[in-house]
Amino acid sequence: MDTDPFRVFLEMQIQLKRNAPSSDAMTRTMFESLDGLPQEPEMLFMGCGQGNDVLELLRCCEGRATAVDMLKPFLAKLEAKAEDAGITGDRLRTVCSDFEALDLPEGIFDLLWSEGAIYTLGFEEGLKAWAKYLKPGGFAVVSECTWLTDTPSVEAKLFWENAYPAMGTFGENMDRAKHAGFELLSTRVLPEEDWWTDYYQPLIPLIAEAREAYAGDPGVQAMLDEEETEIRLYERHAADYGYVFYVLRKQG
Ligand SMILES: C[S@@+](CC[C@H](N)C(=O)[O-])C[C@H]1O[C@@H](n2cnc3c(N)ncnc32)[C@H](O)[C@@H]1O
Repeated sequence: MDTDPFRVFLEMQIQLKRNAPSSDAMTRTMFESLDGLPQEPEMLFMGCGQGNDVLELLRCCEGRATAVDMLKPFLAKLEAKAEDAGITGDRLRTVCSDFEALDLPEGIFDLLWSEGAIYTLGFEEGLKAWAKYLKPGGFAVVSECTWLTDTPSVEAKLFWENAYPAMGTFGENMDRAKHAGFELLSTRVLPEEDWWTDYYQPLIPLIAEAREAYAGDPGVQAMLDEEETEIRLYERHAADYGYVFYVLRKQG
């Protein structure tokens, strides 16, 4: 019987340190750019996966983290890493839930953080849906794959028109943030090396292993083709698109 390609995708992803391009250094830099956070912020992480951002921010400040993801195995890895790091007491709470079915108190968070996950709702829709959890004037730091040029290569355009048709330019995302009720404080493009070191480079041998393990399974091979195409596309067209961190403040 053919294997569910998503299961194989998850088997690969769980072996990685992180599940979207970023780095601990970038997470820290973005956190340190926030001016006016309380000493012990209440922080909400959306689509945290294995939660490198959660752990990094808990190292950066004395705050408390609520970490949301729909995949239990990712949260289990976060909990294990937190235990190894000696994070105890009420500093970390994991919530296994779909964003759309979240049962969290509204208006209590000082900071909303989401790396590589808001695309699942759409940038504006996600910000609109999540804003209610923030206090008035609360910060949001969200990374989103963004067109870095108005004239991308045809190859990149065709790929993303299929993979993520709503992907916006800087300007479009600034408007979307405004429509969602946020003021834009700053943006920062993720360095190219942060796509490779913890994400694409370790993924490449896992793809090769899965190719062998699931030889003759067309569904899995097609999924692996897609993964490889995405990596090769970035190799050729990193100037066309990239992850951008948007630093936002909830208005009102
Ligand atoms: C591309 S991964 C990024 C994970 C992590 N932020 C990182 O940078 O390594 C997107 C994450 O969002 C989570 N996710 C996607 N849709 C979700 C939803 N509707 N509700 C909750 N979590 C969701 C996935 O389970 C996954 O862990």
